[in-house]
Amino acid sequence: MPKKPLVLLTHKLPEDWIGSSLEDFEVIIGQSKNRGIDKKLAPYLDQTSGIICLLDDPIPAEVITQAKNLKVISNMAVGVDNIDVNVCTRLGIPVGHTPGVLTDGTADLTVALLLAVCRKIGIASEDARQGRWTNWDPIGWLGVDLKGATVGIVGLGKIGSAVAERLGAFGTRLIFSNRSPLPDKEKQLDATQVSLDELITSSDIICLHLPLSADTVDLMDAAAFQKMKPTAILINAARGPVVNTQALLEALETGQIRAAGLDVTDPEPLPPDHALYQLDNCLITPHIGSATHNTRKTMANVAIRNLIAGINGLPLPFCVNPEVYS
Ligand code: DGY
Repeated sequence: MPKKPLVLLTHKLPEDWIGSSLEDFEVIIGQSKNRGIDKKLAPYLDQTSGIICLLDDPIPAEVITQAKNLKVISNMAVGVDNIDVNVCTRLGIPVGHTPGVLTDGTADLTVALLLAVCRKIGIASEDARQGRWTNWDPIGWLGVDLKGATVGIVGLGKIGSAVAERLGAFGTRLIFSNRSPLPDKEKQLDATQVSLDELITSSDIICLHLPLSADTVDLMDAAAFQKMKPTAILINAARGPVVNTQALLEALETGQIRAAGLDVTDPEPLPPDHALYQLDNCLITPHIGSATHNTRKTMANVAIRNLIAGINGLPLPFCVNPEVYS
């Protein structure tokens, strides 16, 4: 019997997400608390045909170039900023990701976070739990209305559009910024495309839905916070480094903006002693945008399909660097 191709899986996944789909491979699983190619996986790097990794597994050039027999890297995420895709492309290694299947889950979470920040749900719940709910306080836990609020969506891709669809139902006024003009989306979503600058200055709520790249890192910096309305709220469910953490901290501490809801942070995880956790006007969740049973299982399924196609030398169903085939 020929040896089965080797696959490195950086993190254990539930049995029923995998089933028998990897039975044609020898699979070595990393130690779940580690990130990237850990000590257990590293000795097998030069023999492996495929890697399945998660969004917080760094896969830098050094790892990729050591994996001399690598045919595919399959990320169980839509974002691939953890992988040096340029090096993969140069070496002809396709990189798979999981677009589409997490759109609704992430859009739902974004709206949940937005509502929670607008209505102070985190702090109100904590106050009730801690015995600070002593009476029906006419001026306690006052939030802001969504109806009539101008919501600015930065990046109108799949997730940004799904957020816009949901927010339309709340009677918000929708504006968005995007690299390319999207006149059809304007009609479809009853939204107005504006420049990023106009969006930042005129939104009551800003939602970020951009991939992380050299162009988007620190997009929300001190200068951007200065331009925001002092009553404005920032929601980030995209990638942490799109927001400059120190600048956000200062903007929240000084009341330069009203509040923030973050499902992603820089760094990630945000250490428990970080000053952002001390602020009543900042609600943080641990990157749970896609965390529903159904979504995560489907993401695993897509990641496995990408892996199998790559090892068999077939085009990946969802490939971020299809130029490797040309
Ligand atoms: C992704 O897949 O990139 C998302 O951030 C997961 O929640």
